[in-house]
Amino acid sequence: PNGKSSSGSRQRLVVVSNRVPVPKDGSTKAGGLAIALEGALKESGGLWFGWSGNIVGDASDKPEVVQGGKITFAVVDLTQQDYDEYYAGFANRALWPVCHYRLDLVQLERSDTDGYFRVNRAFAASLARLLQPDDIIWIHDYHFIPLAAELRKLGFNNRIGFFLHIPWPPSDVASALPAYERLLRGLGAYDVVGFHTPLDVENFQQCLVREGIGQPMGPNEYQVDGRRIRVEPFPVGIDTQAFARTAVSGEKNALVRRTKASMGDRDLIIGVDRLDYSKGIKQRIESFSCFLKSSPAFHNRVTYIQITPKSRSDVPEYKRMQHEIAEQAGWTNGNFGEVDWTPIRYVNQTVGHAALAGLYRMSQVGLVTPLRDGMNLVAKEFVAAQPPEDPGVLILSRFAGAAHELNGALLVNPYDTEACAAAITRALQMPLAERQERWITMWERLQTNTVGAWCRQFLSCLADSAAEAEEEPLE
Ligand code: G6P
Repeated sequence: PNGKSSSGSRQRLVVVSNRVPVPKDGSTKAGGLAIALEGALKESGGLWFGWSGNIVGDASDKPEVVQGGKITFAVVDLTQQDYDEYYAGFANRALWPVCHYRLDLVQLERSDTDGYFRVNRAFAASLARLLQPDDIIWIHDYHFIPLAAELRKLGFNNRIGFFLHIPWPPSDVASALPAYERLLRGLGAYDVVGFHTPLDVENFQQCLVREGIGQPMGPNEYQVDGRRIRVEPFPVGIDTQAFARTAVSGEKNALVRRTKASMGDRDLIIGVDRLDYSKGIKQRIESFSCFLKSSPAFHNRVTYIQITPKSRSDVPEYKRMQHEIAEQAGWTNGNFGEVDWTPIRYVNQTVGHAALAGLYRMSQVGLVTPLRDGMNLVAKEFVAAQPPEDPGVLILSRFAGAAHELNGALLVNPYDTEACAAAITRALQMPLAERQERWITMWERLQTNTVGAWCRQFLSCLADSAAEAEEEPLE
């Protein structure tokens, strides 16, 4: 899928992401997305480059290289200052909140901005040591927006694509970013810039045009600083069949069986999220409380399991929220719980893939109510895990990218706790025929829009952009 070089041999694919699933003890613990990227990398004997996950006193710019079968993994360390400024600072206290429409949580520090660009320059210099002239480069996510521009400065003319895994907000919101114009121009250094949804694409295009940075050249094509870029939506999917199979076998998983036994004949509502303010967990627990308040008939008849591994705990906004949510879950249990019933089982553990799939399958309701989310693969996995003869109901925020595709879900406004509470009641009472009808449309969609298709589509767009540039060079 990733094109042929002028000599006719298959071009090598290079993937760059902040987290790299370096194999440990001969095996990786990769999720669906990483498995799809690994599939593409294997085809061309590719390279995966990024951060080692280590913070060291003195970071070398020489990457550590690990061979994992046909894939080469190359990683570099960060110093404490790099980590604080680039990752915990600019990426997670400026870019993350702005891209999730949370201007109230933005923290702007000039040193963080400088650190972000400095680390991108250093990553470009490290990667440059490993690059070959024909490599096709695919850079992922908000940590690395300026990376292509830095590589171009070093003289690389390779095809470089960028995919943003988080939302891109409208220009009024995006312009609160420090170094806004520099970031936009940085995105202009790519050949293809991909987003999850048409809304993100529209927002980004609006930014380019309003700032006078991109001149429209045709549908989804802009000229930025003398280069042509394509801006397209590529909604990411999951490995649907494989996940469905995991869910069937997951029923036998020990944790799933113990959970089932502990539930008695109560219905199960499930939520699974990284502990992040964008996920709307606080509002979700409020909605669940509201549901319990308004529907006493369901007391001791349902259990809500919220699986929420801690994330980015060294970022102050995250630490604060972790306390608030724990308090709120405790308050709800104290208020509504009974001696033989805990309404919410709130856990900060990570649960393995197979057990999660099994838990989705035994749930009557999946609660996926982020305040803003690029895509949200939990929504897709929940649907893929359902038994066709008795599928559960997905309650999905209209502000998740997945809402553009999963129209069989009960779509909700996550800020409207009463409406979410009503959706929970409706889901628990939904007749089988309606559940099946809703589920089948989503299942069919997930069959075509798999993560493998997403990968192929992005790479073929990147290869096409190369062919077009050769045919019609810019003046
Ligand atoms: C989101 C981002 C990813 C990130 C992940 C986990 O999904 O789009 O780039 O890796 O969160 O966050 P972390 O900060 O732990 O890498």
